Amino acid sequence: MKIKKLKVSSFRNLESGELQPGEGVNILYGPNGSGKTNLLEAIFMLSLGRSQRGANDGNMIFEGHDVYRLEGTIDTMSRSHKVAVAYSRQAKKKITIEGVSSKTSDLYDFSCVVSSGPEDSDILSGPPSVRRVFLDMYISQISRKYLSDLTDYSRALAQKNSALKQRMDCGMFDAILITAGSRVMEARRDFLLKLKERASEHYKMISNKELFSLNYKPSVSIDEELLSVNEIEAVFQIKLEDNYERERIMQTAMVGPHRDEIQFDIGGRAARIFGSQGQWRTAALAIKLAVYDILKDARGSNPVLLLDEIFAELDKDRCSALIKSFADFSQVFLTTALEPPDELKEAGRSFKVENGQVTVSL
Ligand SMILES: Nc1ncnc2c1ncn2[C@@H]1O[C@H](COP(=O)(O)OP(=O)(O)O)[C@@H](O)[C@H]1O
Ligand SMILES: [Mg+2]
Repeated sequence: MKIKKLKVSSFRNLESGELQPGEGVNILYGPNGSGKTNLLEAIFMLSLGRSQRGANDGNMIFEGHDVYRLEGTIDTMSRSHKVAVAYSRQAKKKITIEGVSSKTSDLYDFSCVVSSGPEDSDILSGPPSVRRVFLDMYISQISRKYLSDLTDYSRALAQKNSALKQRMDCGMFDAILITAGSRVMEARRDFLLKLKERASEHYKMISNKELFSLNYKPSVSIDEELLSVNEIEAVFQIKLEDNYERERIMQTAMVGPHRDEIQFDIGGRAARIFGSQGQWRTAALAIKLAVYDILKDARGSNPVLLLDEIFAELDKDRCSALIKSFADFSQVFLTTALEPPDELKEAGRSFKVENGQVTVSL
């Protein structure tokens, strides 16, 4: 996938602007606070209808304005799609594809984008919900079925929780929780098995020393062996029965993928507890490069890659190695506060971002 054109209005500090990105590398450079990360967020938002840093829509409207609007053209191998994402405080979010009002999930039919930025350290160091959001954001790009199972699961979960709070019968929700939830867990397990292998390779490349590993820790244990989805359903069912009393006492659903965890280890120790900030950032970059590989294989084409301030992460040799590898990517956007190195400038198109204004730099 490629972004051919992007028009931004009243989005964050970008009051209005237009961008025609090229193939290969697109460098966004400019001082801190100028709007580089905001521009990446606009690209992510146009592609998937959400923010890569989980920001809410109201906060993304240019201060003092009522509406933000993003328009653009997204090309895939087979065709070109005209997309618009707009949000107004009154009418909420509106997505159109070829001028036709569409659901956020429709964007997943053709968009595929991987983002890496400083906020990703939270995947290693933050609360479990950050790790689940990460899983959902990227597995949804591999499988529309995952996205719909997740939606079904979340809806049934909210209904069950509300019934538990009101001390009403909630047994009828368990059937859908078990079928949708088991498929969600199966997909997460399969994704994490691939991620484990690829991310440890990238981590080794970047850090050159410690070992990086990860393991899926579902609240329903399915990680011991490769259970089929029917077997997962059976295990989930038993676990729900075991927790019948507890859920009623606590008035909340206690088991299922909404309680899943991922354990990350760096140098054989739990990353969340023993990791340094530098290790978290390196691991986060390794994870996202691994996600890129997985999405590319699954979709059969290259995702768009957004790299926010990765040069802060890497020493000179690793920067050069990464820059060389950009030839393998079809479209990359990267931000840097420093004037980009010549080898990078020669590899692609540069845009200067200053005070929310974007200009092409020759
Ligand atoms: N909704 C908004 N309206 C206006 N300005 C905003 C909004 N949200 C963030 N900003 C401004 O955007 C700037 C940060 O932009 P950012 O893209 O993070 O900069 P950087 O170039 O360092 O990545 C800050 O000055 C911040 O105040
Ligand atoms: Mg930034």
